[in-house]
Amino acid sequence: MENELVLDQVGKIFDDGSLVLRHIDLRLAQGTKLSVLGPSGSGKTTLLRLIAGLETPDSGNIFFDGQRINDLPPHQRRFGMMFQEFALFPHMNVHDNIGYGLRMKGFSRDRIQVRVKEMLALTGLSGFEKRQVDALSGGERQRVALARALAPEPRLLMLDEPLSSLDRVLRKRLLAELTAILSRLNITTLFVTHDHEEAFAAGSRVIIMNQGSIEQAGRPDELVQSPKNQWVREFLGL
Ligand SMILES: Nc1ncnc2c1ncn2[C@@H]1O[C@H](COP(=O)(O)OP(=O)(O)OP(=O)(O)O)[C@@H](O)[C@H]1O
Ligand SMILES: [Mg+2]
Repeated sequence: MENELVLDQVGKIFDDGSLVLRHIDLRLAQGTKLSVLGPSGSGKTTLLRLIAGLETPDSGNIFFDGQRINDLPPHQRRFGMMFQEFALFPHMNVHDNIGYGLRMKGFSRDRIQVRVKEMLALTGLSGFEKRQVDALSGGERQRVALARALAPEPRLLMLDEPLSSLDRVLRKRLLAELTAILSRLNITTLFVTHDHEEAFAAGSRVIIMNQGSIEQAGRPDELVQSPKNQWVREFLGL
C-alpha cells in the first residue's frame, strides 16, 4: 500500500546492554493518526528515533512505501519531526523558520516564498511572516513549528510530546487546534504522549508502551472498554 509504514519485530539494544525495544510490530496505512502512549522510559522516543533514522534497529525491519529503510539516512526518508517546546530558531522570523528545511534542500527563493505562504494559510498565520518567533504566543509558536515540519511535504509526521512543557489549560486548547489542522491532511502522524486523555484525543488508534513492548493496541474506546490487564487498567486510571 502506498506510503504504508510497517515495523516487523523491531528491537533496539543500547551499548550498555539495556534492551529498550523488543518485538515491535506496527502497520499504519497512509493518513493514520496514531498516538504512542506510555510512561517515562517505556521507549516512546526511541521508537520515533528508529522510524526517523536517528537510530538503527538491532533486530527486525522497518518498511515505508514498500521499501526497507533500516539503513536509509534520515534526510532520505523525508519524514518530519516536531519536538517538545517546538525548538524554533529564536533569531529568525516566522518566514525563515518555516522555510528553513526548504533552504537546506536548496529550493529557490521563489519556491520557498510560495510554499511558506501555503503553510501560513494552512495554520492560520497569514500576515505573520516578518514577526520574530519570541514575540509570539504559545499557540502561535506551535503553529509555526507545525508549519515548519510540514513545509518540506514529509511523507510522515512525528510529534514527540509537543505540548508537555505547557500548562494544562493551554495544552487542551493547543491539542484541539493541532488535531484540527492535522485531520485535514492525509499524512500519517505518530503523536507521543504520556497522558492518556491527550492520546485519546490525538489519535484514532493508540499503542500503549510498557518497558519497551507494546502492551496493548487499539482504538481509544476499545482500550477503555477492554483493558487487557491490571497494568493497563491502572495506567489508564480506570
Ligand atoms: N542512547 C541511549 N543509551 C542508553 N540508554 C538509552 C539511550 N536512549 C534511551 N535510553 C534508555 O532507553 C529507555 C527508553 O527511553 P526513551 O527515551 O525511549 O523513553 P520515553 O518513553 O521516550 O520516556 P519519556 O516519556 O521520559 O520521554 C530508557 O530507559 C532510557 O534510559
Ligand atoms: Mg521521550
